[in-house]
Amino acid sequence: MKRTKIKALLASQETGQQVCVKGWVRSFRNNQFIAINDGSTVKTIQAVAALDKFDDATRKRLTVGAAVGIVGELVESQGKGQSVEIVANEITIYGDADPEKYPLQPKKHSMEFLREISHLRFRTNTFGAIFRIRHAAAFAIHQFFNDKGFVYLHSPIITGSDAEGAGEMFRVTTFEPNEAPLTEDGKIDYKKDFFGKETNLTVSGQLEAELGALAFSDVYTFGPTFRAENSNTSRHLAEFWMIEPEIAFAGLQENMDLAEEMLKYIVKYALEHCADDIEFLEKRLLDEEKSKPMAERSPMPLKEKLEFCLDNDFVRLTYTEAIEILRNSKPNKKKKFKFPIDEWGADLQSEHERYLVEKHFKKPVILTDYPASIKAFYMRLNEDEKTVAAMDILFPGIGEIVGGSVREERYEVLKGKMEAQDISPEEMSWYLDTRRFGTCPHAGYGLGFARMILFLTGMGNIRDVIPFPRTPGNAGF
Ligand code: 4AD
Ligand code: MG
Repeated sequence: MKRTKIKALLASQETGQQVCVKGWVRSFRNNQFIAINDGSTVKTIQAVAALDKFDDATRKRLTVGAAVGIVGELVESQGKGQSVEIVANEITIYGDADPEKYPLQPKKHSMEFLREISHLRFRTNTFGAIFRIRHAAAFAIHQFFNDKGFVYLHSPIITGSDAEGAGEMFRVTTFEPNEAPLTEDGKIDYKKDFFGKETNLTVSGQLEAELGALAFSDVYTFGPTFRAENSNTSRHLAEFWMIEPEIAFAGLQENMDLAEEMLKYIVKYALEHCADDIEFLEKRLLDEEKSKPMAERSPMPLKEKLEFCLDNDFVRLTYTEAIEILRNSKPNKKKKFKFPIDEWGADLQSEHERYLVEKHFKKPVILTDYPASIKAFYMRLNEDEKTVAAMDILFPGIGEIVGGSVREERYEVLKGKMEAQDISPEEMSWYLDTRRFGTCPHAGYGLGFARMILFLTGMGNIRDVIPFPRTPGNAGF
């Protein structure tokens, strides 16, 4: 018999029909009641295995984690907490899970413990909810850009260029350490490698997206990016997915408008399509909050926080205006910032970003026009020649979620900036060609997908919102 997914079954409520579900046992109570989950929803369906119908050998195998198939009649449930249940006629056990050894039991496990058994964590309600939301957000993003006529461009993962100019790249090589050919001055000659030049994993698909935008007008990338920065924080991954739209004939205004509209679209989509998962995560967070001191508790429940983001315009201000606010502020009565903002030109730390969003404005913030000296080479120089037309979007609980800019479309200015930062115009001639032939004003941004999922799920650690986290010291299994 064809199986029905539990989500569809709970939605249909058509009692009296024979149904088949397949999934994993979440609990087996009173020797009769089997709760099954198949990952289609955070909910379980209950199947009743009448005592006179199944032998002890079958019952013994109905342990938490076992893979089972149940065929039976869908009936109205007498029990609390569910409207329908299945009266089992047939039980197939596909795979046992030895209760002495299976690490997931029907109780609350700490996040630290779940990270240790991360290969099994998809089978918990929390991670089920997180990764269904992640899926929905990815789908929403494609839908958003597709509806606007953007072309999805697959940017390469292996590349010869450092898009951010920050030197945080993972090198890609096929050489064995001791067998690599050397140059005259004794360094490894990467030009003799399989790729014919020094290559890395991409830090951003932006430069390739720019090539696309100057032909298709509007493009976006959505793919994995890599950063070899040794930051062991709850906001950084060594491998993360990024969404990078690039729009031609556009400036900062259009870029900010697009980003704000996109972020709200994703939030709205998740609220509409992942209501059960958001509700589950909200309850979980509220439980967790109870054990925290008052000052550390989140000011808003998850759903309210998401709705608040939809209902409010993001605050837009320049870096210079933000610095003025920060200079005259203290994060609280006693404490100063760990990194006091003394001078114009200093980069903002996450404590500053979060102060602006969470304490000062209490809304998402778009900061623009940063000092040129702290931003990447490709950002367009403003008339003041001190600042660039950059924009960072800062979110409550997250800090920077989006980073973007107008691009320097003037050939000479761009070339000059590259030279000043030791980026070889010859090596990057393919990129400079966009400015040599048919250049135009254009802009774009990158959304860190994992940070978006942190916001949507209310989770506190970025390792918990990507299926297989890669962080310093953790290359996974
Ligand atoms: O600000 P970033 O470095 O900007 C770029 O890469 C540009 N090329 C984007 C563009 O204009 N097309 O990164 C963009 C976003 C950040 O705002 C942040 O959300 C996320 O990517 N991000 C990270 N997320 C997780 N772990 C890391 N190590 C991240 N680094 C950046
Ligand atoms: Mg940035």
